[in-house]
Amino acid sequence: MPAELLISERHDVTDSMADVQRVGVVGCGQMGAGIAEVCARSGLEVKVAETTGEALEIGRTRLYNSLSKAAERGKITAEERDETLARLSFTTDLGEFADRDLVIEAVVENESIKTEIFQVLDQVVTRPDAILASNTSSIPLVKLAVATSRPDQVIGIHFFNPAPVQKLVELIPALTTSEETIKRAEGVVQNVLGKHAIRAQDRSGFVVNALLIPYLLSAIRMFESGIASREDIDNGMEMGCAHPMGPLKLADLIGLDTVASVADSMYDEYKEPLYAAPPLLQRMVDAGRLGRKTGSGFYPYS
Ligand SMILES: NC(=O)c1ccc[n+]([C@@H]2O[C@H](COP(=O)([O-])OP(=O)(O)OC[C@H]3O[C@@H](n4cnc5c(N)ncnc54)[C@H](O)[C@@H]3O)[C@@H](O)[C@H]2O)c1
Repeated sequence: MPAELLISERHDVTDSMADVQRVGVVGCGQMGAGIAEVCARSGLEVKVAETTGEALEIGRTRLYNSLSKAAERGKITAEERDETLARLSFTTDLGEFADRDLVIEAVVENESIKTEIFQVLDQVVTRPDAILASNTSSIPLVKLAVATSRPDQVIGIHFFNPAPVQKLVELIPALTTSEETIKRAEGVVQNVLGKHAIRAQDRSGFVVNALLIPYLLSAIRMFESGIASREDIDNGMEMGCAHPMGPLKLADLIGLDTVASVADSMYDEYKEPLYAAPPLLQRMVDAGRLGRKTGSGFYPYS
């Protein structure tokens, strides 16, 4: 049976910390910075790669601010913050990932960019059984796996936003992923990072987005057709259903480009009208109003 079908099995996972000590994170945007923080706070040595020195500086500041906030709020001590920062290093050269035990790619949701990164990682990472993971929300893992010469070692490790706060991680084996890789990835996620792992097949949307994205798109359609104001839509779900955040605020938090590209992938896979991105979402992406990260989405942000 292909490993991806063994979605309900659970395994004993031991010695995960010894197995994985050096982590590489590609991309230091919202998710990459959060994933790097989670790994470094768990005691792993983490190297983060970005495209340019400028992007790296923005990512480094994002990480520093997040750790400082965690210290201010008493979630970690000032000493833990400094120790965590000391475990983090930064580069614009993926060649420096040669000694990594685990690499987690978290760049923009673009198949050709991700494919190219997996080809490069395959060339540079020297440990023969290193795990090459992607945080993709919607790109088929098998496409990234077959871009490498080690498709059995490629897996989806899908964190949620903000990664240091959200407890869940989805593990998505490709058709080619070995059971050994799944077990080792699960061991790191649960035993080292302290997250709760659920397994999903390599189908667009996995578990959480398959449920969440049609809900967010429905809220955008509702706003677009003037049925209710953005505040009333969000208040409706916050106060009527006890959601911590309404759907338009949540879409702004995720990033409207990410919401649109996940919706497009799900629509491509299933041709289900509920997954089709509404015109307003496309126009906002075209206008560069991507939500919190650009200072403007359904709401303005300072
Ligand atoms: N935003 C979310 O809520 C969320 C949740 C789970 C998963 N994801 C997934 O995580 C990934 C990243 O999303 P994000 O929200 O962090 O996006 P983002 O736009 O905040 O960050 C992407 C980063 O990737 C960098 N990048 C682009 N090309 C690169 C390259 N070749 N090498 C190194 N860095 C490169 C960019 O400079 C940018 O900093 C996507 O695959 C997305 O689907 C996002």
